[in-house]
Amino acid sequence: MTKGIILSGGYGTRLRPLSCSIPKSLMPVVNKPVIERQIMLLKAAGVNEIVLAVSVMSDVVKHYFGDGKRLNIKIHYTNEKYPMGTAGAIRLAQEYLKDDNFFMLNGDVIMDFKFSDMLKHHQKCGGIGTIASRVVEDPSRYGVLIVDDQTHQLHKFLEKEEYHPPAGKIKPMPINAGVYILEPDIFSYIQPKKKVSIEREVFPHVADDGKLFNYSISGIWKDIGKPLDLLEANILLMTDIIDSLEGEVKNLIDDSVNIDPTTNIHSPCTIGKNVIIRKNCTIGPNVIIGDDVYIDENTKINDSMIYNESYISKNVSINNAIISDNCLIEKNVQLTGTDENLIILASFVKVNKDVKLLSKNNQSISYCHHEVVKESVN
Ligand code: GTP
Repeated sequence: MTKGIILSGGYGTRLRPLSCSIPKSLMPVVNKPVIERQIMLLKAAGVNEIVLAVSVMSDVVKHYFGDGKRLNIKIHYTNEKYPMGTAGAIRLAQEYLKDDNFFMLNGDVIMDFKFSDMLKHHQKCGGIGTIASRVVEDPSRYGVLIVDDQTHQLHKFLEKEEYHPPAGKIKPMPINAGVYILEPDIFSYIQPKKKVSIEREVFPHVADDGKLFNYSISGIWKDIGKPLDLLEANILLMTDIIDSLEGEVKNLIDDSVNIDPTTNIHSPCTIGKNVIIRKNCTIGPNVIIGDDVYIDENTKINDSMIYNESYISKNVSINNAIISDNCLIEKNVQLTGTDENLIILASFVKVNKDVKLLSKNNQSISYCHHEVVKESVN
């Protein structure tokens, strides 16, 4: 029976300061942790047993998912004292994965393709590994795959620094989408008890042996490597979910919310459980609000995420921002990021009244968890 392993143990350095208090694998994407969405896709493909390869903030991940009963899937954990690399992590889970092929997922990507179709393709190709690839306009940030379109064989696996576009011109290329199907034979390519990267130290050898294949995916795909990616992934998935719903649904709003009738919601927006929004607010477009958030009157929010249990006072303006959980924004605050440079508040940040944070000069403005912001930046 095909199982799954999700890599959930990286440091998430590029997502700091958000990832200092929330593990990357629990980052919310449309109000569900990114790997919970992956578990749903695995379940839809018939997988009923998975391993979460945890390390950094492992207790938080274990506490959230437990043994998997809530999601009706059996969850095992392998715990690395320190991150063992993407291949080292799966080597530690060999006892759970030695009997059959298995899905391996980087726990920091969203997508919506059918995993069962990929499994059929993997079986047809007959290799040791199949890598899902996605064509992106600018592949320079990712590992690039050189593929034979006829046989699906993967000739080369180039890490980001190894790929040089012809004549220096950026062109769309298939990149590693972070979803693999592997046979237990993969373990013979991984040295035990060592930090090993599957992308750099394993796949190139499997490709040289002619046993690595490609599976092209389409539809939505996005990694959440950096804060801007996280916000974009949220907006992308929210839009995709809304488009897939029957009828005239324009927003995802929980039934338990209490929104004053004078408040305007500009779609698309997601509003979680028990959210209260007072009068004359303007929310949206492109806003994702978690559970138990309070928003006082005359507040405007667009192109932003607000995680659970944050409190936003009156006359606040927020755009192009990520506000993590339990933040307190006092009255008359202005948080103005740009498309490229966000305002980022990690968990439990307090912004004092009348503070104005305006990001410019190509720089995001971010605050670590529990900081108190007393002075304006503009
Ligand atoms: P950055 O530090 O910002 O590069 O993020 P990261 O640590 O998450 O690294 P990267 O984006 O390369 O990781 C891709 C996926 O693999 C993420 O889901 C990580 O959690 C996971 N991952 C990376 N390294 C390890 C590791 O050594 N052990 C485990 N268990 N997971 C890992």
